[in-house]
Amino acid sequence: MRPFSFGGVLLATFIYIANAEFTSSHKLHKRIHVYPPYVQVKPRSYIVQFEDYLPPTHAGHFYSMPGVDVQHHYSNIFNGISVRTDRSADSTHLASVNGVKRVWPVRVYTAAGYSTGLNATYPYIHKPTGVERAIEELGLDGKGIHIGIVDTGVDYNHPELGNCWKTKGCMWQYGADLVGDKYNPYTENPIIVPKQTPMDCAGHGTHVSGIIAGQGPTVYGVARNVTLGMYRVFGCPGTDPGAGQTSDDFIIKGIEMAVADKSDIISLSLGGGSWSDGPSSIAASNAVKQGIVVVAAVGNDGTGGLHTVSAPAVGNGVLGVGSVDSWNYTVSMMMIVNEHTSQSVFITPSNTVGYPFIFETDTPVVSLVNNSDVEACVNITQDLTGIVAVFEITSNCSPLSTIASIAQAGAVGIILIYTKPGLTYPTLETGKIPLVVISSDNGQFLLDAIAQGPTTIKALKSNPTITIPADKGSGQISTFSSMGPDPNLGLSPHVMAPGGYIYSTFPLKFGSYFVLSGTSMATPYVSGAVALLKQARPNLTVKEIGEILLTTAHPIINSKTKKVEHPYKGGSGLINVYDAIKSRAKIDPPMLSLNSTTRGVITTYQDLSALGNVRWTARTIKLTNMDVNNNMRIDIDYSISDSLSMYYKNGSIAYTPRVWTGNATTGGINNTEPVVYIPDAVKSIPSGKTGQYTVILVAPKGLAECEGWYFGGQLNFNLKWDGDLNITPYHVPFAGFNGDYTKLDVLAPLGSGFPFLGDENAKPVDPKNLVVSASNPISVYFSMALPSHLGILQLVDANNKKIGYLPQGYATDIPHTCPTCSVPNISVIVNGTVFTDTDLTNAIEAPAGKYYLHSAFLRPFGNTSNSDDYQTWDSPEFTIG
Ligand SMILES: *[C@@H]1O[C@H](CO)[C@@H](O)[C@H](O)[C@H]1NC(C)=O
Ligand SMILES: *[C@@H]1O[C@H](CO)[C@@H](O)[C@H](O)[C@H]1NC(C)=O
Ligand SMILES: *[C@@H]1O[C@H](CO)[C@@H](O)[C@H](O)[C@H]1NC(C)=O
Ligand SMILES: *[C@@H]1O[C@H](CO)[C@@H](O)[C@H](O)[C@H]1NC(C)=O
Ligand SMILES: *[C@@H]1O[C@H](CO)[C@@H](O)[C@H](O)[C@H]1NC(C)=O
Ligand SMILES: *[C@@H]1O[C@H](CO)[C@@H](O)[C@H](O)[C@H]1NC(C)=O
Ligand SMILES: *[C@@H]1O[C@H](CO)[C@@H](O)[C@H](O)[C@H]1NC(C)=O
Ligand SMILES: *[C@@H]1O[C@H](CO)[C@@H](O)[C@H](O)[C@H]1NC(C)=O
Ligand SMILES: *[C@@H]1O[C@H](CO)[C@@H](O)[C@H](O)[C@H]1NC(C)=O
Ligand SMILES: *[C@@H]1O[C@H](CO)[C@@H](O)[C@H](O)[C@H]1NC(C)=O
Repeated sequence: MRPFSFGGVLLATFIYIANAEFTSSHKLHKRIHVYPPYVQVKPRSYIVQFEDYLPPTHAGHFYSMPGVDVQHHYSNIFNGISVRTDRSADSTHLASVNGVKRVWPVRVYTAAGYSTGLNATYPYIHKPTGVERAIEELGLDGKGIHIGIVDTGVDYNHPELGNCWKTKGCMWQYGADLVGDKYNPYTENPIIVPKQTPMDCAGHGTHVSGIIAGQGPTVYGVARNVTLGMYRVFGCPGTDPGAGQTSDDFIIKGIEMAVADKSDIISLSLGGGSWSDGPSSIAASNAVKQGIVVVAAVGNDGTGGLHTVSAPAVGNGVLGVGSVDSWNYTVSMMMIVNEHTSQSVFITPSNTVGYPFIFETDTPVVSLVNNSDVEACVNITQDLTGIVAVFEITSNCSPLSTIASIAQAGAVGIILIYTKPGLTYPTLETGKIPLVVISSDNGQFLLDAIAQGPTTIKALKSNPTITIPADKGSGQISTFSSMGPDPNLGLSPHVMAPGGYIYSTFPLKFGSYFVLSGTSMATPYVSGAVALLKQARPNLTVKEIGEILLTTAHPIINSKTKKVEHPYKGGSGLINVYDAIKSRAKIDPPMLSLNSTTRGVITTYQDLSALGNVRWTARTIKLTNMDVNNNMRIDIDYSISDSLSMYYKNGSIAYTPRVWTGNATTGGINNTEPVVYIPDAVKSIPSGKTGQYTVILVAPKGLAECEGWYFGGQLNFNLKWDGDLNITPYHVPFAGFNGDYTKLDVLAPLGSGFPFLGDENAKPVDPKNLVVSASNPISVYFSMALPSHLGILQLVDANNKKIGYLPQGYATDIPHTCPTCSVPNISVIVNGTVFTDTDLTNAIEAPAGKYYLHSAFLRPFGNTSNSDDYQTWDSPEFTIG
């Protein structure tokens, strides 16, 4: 699940072709957007944006256009329409209409963020977030605040979710089904038959709803008296590709309806893509401009390391939410036994309603990891009668069909190795077979045991469930929580909330309760917290809400290193709604994205000249004393996080960021930690007044620039008001890159094996004797170290003449890729067809002959018209015939 910014929109509105080398001669006004190859799109469907000055009635032109069928007509948060076309009309036709600003294909989204986890003992969840005190001491319940949720729908018949729909006094007062059960964006003619109400057939939206407003006694939501609206935009899950997914056109519609229905807050546990200039980001940012708090999940690609946050969470004004693991969660146990080993490991409760995972006697277990039938997505031929099967989800086929196939082969249980979230919660109603999930470490242990020889498992009904205490890792950043910075070096995530191992409501037919993990779960938590804050302080602006929520959050301390987590992992820290409500200070900006650190001597400040030639930047922070009666005293210090790098010393990519572990030499010219100076710090601010600070942040000079370190930490404003005994800490995270970000390579280092020419299964091919044709295509595979704003792939003949662009060979907004991410790598087909224009509409067939590929990817902040700002790679020569 993921969501987007405005600067980005402007950035991409006019894209100029790089230079004369890439096309003919002149600069081109790029209005037709082409997504990079990994992006799934809805066939023959487009989103058309009008120029800002045009009225929504401009859509009139399209209603009479041959071959064009207008699907949605937006007016409020997006000036444009969505359309389906027949073969006589394409993006060029649409873009040729006067007043069209941009045209995008309609992007498809998976309802990600699931996977499953362990059982969180619910009552504990609200203590560390200040929600318990806000409810119990301040009596807040969100009354009068409206939250619009765009998700998979809700089982409003759940007794803990009101058991009502739009009746008087019901918590559900607005919302709609936009798509119906069978909506599948991949199909040629999607079936769109919305139901009377947004009933949930997937579970995700019901889980999210319980986190916001579960009525108890099992699930106590954050804001139990809020008024809710649910906009269902996902169809029902199923085994067909695309089933259970949604698309930009409906997400925009859902946001627009939530705005029209007067939501104060919009909760988006969805998203995709790391750049902030897509249509749904525009919609989310426009909602923010209208005074609505938009809360969005940063994504579940944390195992891919830095640069994995997604849109629209990175959007301008949108609150991007990361996840921490819940506290005091409970687990079950399973014994693994063979000749060499006998050990208990943690498992989740069974995911299959009515099928507990209980094996009182030793039961044989086999591995289906690398099983050729499973890999090929065909029915399993191996007889699994009486056996428990272990498998890992591969990206090739639907997990639901694999599970069905395992059950059909006679297995009595399934153990799924949890490699990354973004799976779905398998089984539910599909497989009539108990299924549990184990962590990747325990999964590896189990696979190793199986590799040693015949192995059995035992899971006793009498096994105790164990509560993992809060100090054993819980409360820490979830491994799946996506990391910043965003592609513009903006600080993300902004705040954190519990999202790992969350026990919440689930559709009645799926067992009523379930444990899910994901930033999808942390997002509604923050939406509920904002409702409490708005209830307590109705006059705060959207900007003030963000400032207060961020500066009163509690920075997350790593339980092993005892240091504050890097802001690219933990943002400002765990929200604390009680402290936010009680906040009497306003700090602007609430975070510092240190972008343009200059190299040079800090001449302005005499006492800093000893630092010599360092990278540094100066920022201004305004601090307002909002207490109308009391003066405020200020003492500022700072905490440093371990610096992070996405490269190992040998230059290869560290998907788990490399951490600077050396000792700091504080203050010296070889400092390996950043240093913060605040000259002329004002020591007190009278009631109602604002003070201003210049903060000078010096990058760690002692860390080699070529190793690409991101440094960061928190500024601590320790405030004390007259008449108070206590000091209240406020925090402003800061983070930046130690070096020249604009010079970085965007492609993974050559040692990674990428880029390469390969077959459809990504097996490298030897270009020497290769004859490529439409019936014998190959692909070119890229691994992206950094996001790139523009990627160009051209076919070049033996005379170095550029013949044209490969299919999808001119694409904007390419993300960072990683083996465990939703986008593992980028591949583009080479089959002889190329396009002569950057809109990729004029196809030609390359004549037989010798060719190579020329690729160019824009470096960070690069100017598209400057060839020096691109990283290039040329393939070996091959033949087209
Ligand atoms: C999770 O824990 C709660 C509270 O201890 C318990 O009531 C519930 O049955 C557990 N759920 C599962 C699926 O184990
Ligand atoms: C975890 O549970 C213990 C009691 O078993 C409780 O004292 C503690 O406060 C809980 N931790 C959190 C973070 O709620
Ligand atoms: C919700 O509001 C009603 C009416 O104001 C009140 O009686 C009830 O206690 C509130 N519920 C919660 C959970 O605060
Ligand atoms: C599965 O295949 C991969 C790639 O060949 C290999 O690295 C891995 O060890 C195999 N796993 C098992 C459990 O056989
Ligand atoms: C797999 O099994 C299912 C259920 O028995 C059957 O409907 C389907 O045709 C089988 N598929 C193949 C490729 O054999
Ligand atoms: C960083 O600087 C670049 C180039 O000046 C700019 O495009 C980008 O928006 C800046 N990022 C942030 C977060 O300010
Ligand atoms: C909010 O603003 C209104 C109108 O300016 C004012 O009457 C009200 O007292 C304010 N409420 C709070 C809680 O400050
Ligand atoms: C870091 O400092 C500690 C204490 O001064 C010392 O014991 C340790 O050896 C040092 N480590 C390195 C890598 O220099
Ligand atoms: C700083 O590092 C340089 C290069 O490693 C070294 O020559 C110099 O002695 C160091 N200076 C101090 C004060 O540690
Ligand atoms: C080559 O591949 C592209 C992209 O899949 C496709 O549109 C085109 O029709 C193919 N060319 C031929 C001749 O099949």
